[in-house]
Amino acid sequence: AERTYIMIKPDGVQRGIVGNIISRFETKGYKLVAMKTKQASQELLDTHYCDLVEKPFFPKLRDYMMSGPVCCMVWEGKEAVVTGRKMLGATNPLASEPGTIRGDFCIEVGRNICHGSDSVENANKEIALWFEESELVDWESHSKDWIYE
Ligand code: GTP
Ligand code: MG
Repeated sequence: AERTYIMIKPDGVQRGIVGNIISRFETKGYKLVAMKTKQASQELLDTHYCDLVEKPFFPKLRDYMMSGPVCCMVWEGKEAVVTGRKMLGATNPLASEPGTIRGDFCIEVGRNICHGSDSVENANKEIALWFEESELVDWESHSKDWIYE
């Protein structure tokens, strides 16, 4: 089954939005495969955001991402990557639709609460970057026949 890497950024943790975000993925029907809090290192962020390191805003992005703990999660289910992105909303929160996480909880792109993988390929890379294989739990949800036909 498809997996995506969802990370609640330091502002989401500090503002107490962790539970709400977990609840949205849970009630959607996705399965929680791994979760932990972590203090991100510079090295980890340089790898995670390797496509953005040359951007002028990157130093600020890295400071933001290191300003407190992040909450790292792996969610699994049908089309989890593209649906996870929809649930997060547009990158710029003022353009995010109400009902999305960013649309409901934040205002600025530099404080946009959460990260979601943008492709299956990147999801697999990010999961391998942030988690040890042994931290990913393979389990069967008792709700699966009520979520999938
Ligand atoms: P992520 O799910 O966090 O990867 O966001 P995204 O895929 O919607 O956007 P992208 O990967 O292009 O950018 C990663 C993150 O960098 C964004 O979520 C923002 O937090 C930050 N970012 C992107 N563009 C800007 C910008 O113009 N200014 C600032 N300050 N931050 C930005
Ligand atoms: Mg991105």
